[in-house]
Amino acid sequence: MLTLKELNVQNKRVLLRCDFNVPLSNEGVILDDFRIKETVPTIEHLIKNGAKVVLMSHLGRPKGKVVESLKLAPIQEKLSEYLNRKIAKASDCIGIEIEKKTNEMKPGEVLLLENLRFHKEEEENDAQFALELAKLGDIYINDAFGASHRAHASIVGVPKYLPSAAGLLLEKEIKILTKLMENPVKPLVVIIGGAKAETKTKLIDRISEISDFTLINGLIQREIKEKNIKLKYPQKIIGPLDEVEGKDIGQKTIKLFKEKIFSAKTVFWNGPLGMFEKKEFAKGTEEIARAIVRSGVFSVVGGGETVDFINSLGLLSKFNHVSTGGGAMIEFLSGEKLPGIEVLRSAS
Ligand code: 3PG
Repeated sequence: MLTLKELNVQNKRVLLRCDFNVPLSNEGVILDDFRIKETVPTIEHLIKNGAKVVLMSHLGRPKGKVVESLKLAPIQEKLSEYLNRKIAKASDCIGIEIEKKTNEMKPGEVLLLENLRFHKEEEENDAQFALELAKLGDIYINDAFGASHRAHASIVGVPKYLPSAAGLLLEKEIKILTKLMENPVKPLVVIIGGAKAETKTKLIDRISEISDFTLINGLIQREIKEKNIKLKYPQKIIGPLDEVEGKDIGQKTIKLFKEKIFSAKTVFWNGPLGMFEKKEFAKGTEEIARAIVRSGVFSVVGGGETVDFINSLGLLSKFNHVSTGGGAMIEFLSGEKLPGIEVLRSAS
């Protein structure tokens, strides 16, 4: 797969697909800007190398209509802050006016297109829409790992029309997650929490092929039993020994999980261990986060809720790799092929 660093971007319009799908408050304030921050190195690389940077992303699920609260103005503001320069914003993501704007750009300038999902054709992977987008760049770069499991026009359609490559963030995600699945430093301890066992079964099965232990929370353990879900490696799965009102792992479990973490050289963690939104049920998740950091293992973590929680503890920078992918990361680690990555592989 071709990567950004192999390309000469000088004076070229680079159409960069990012995943700026970040949580917003009712007042439109960005609650967690991690995904934006992680895209900054790619944008800086492009600026430094004299590209004209055209950014595109979706935000939320506006279902093909213009939704005022899902316009990308807060992203524009945040990016200007991080990049320490003015970022222009287009009023739409396709059209003659915008194409003209991109043709008038100077090297080092950055233009942010409006929310891709204001057009239903984005999610429909409409070929004409992809072509309209492709008119806004000379080169296409995908840095939206978090959205690469979606076969949408800006992910799989545009690379059919332009020379295409992976951005620095996408490259980093693929490298670290592939190493985790293919050649982790052992012992590998995996922790899977969250609420829906069904969405995690494939991940648990695939990752347990290589893990030494796979620790799960009470909710998943119960659902596996109730729905009689058959796991491939039941001998590697460890569920809670005790719980707090069925909403958090108890003291004995915290102790056991910590022992497993301290015995590991690599830990992968996805999903909270309890109902952490309520303070009285957040202890298990917090203790596990702190134990991973203290143990000094190579740590990989992902999933929106888990990342938000670790961030709220001020521990995010202490993890070795924090994935920007939610669903995309789960699919990748479950062994599924992500359309956004596959299209770049076949292009090169
Ligand atoms: C995500 O947040 O997982 C990605 O941005 C994809 O968003 P979607 O689930 O709305 O397609």
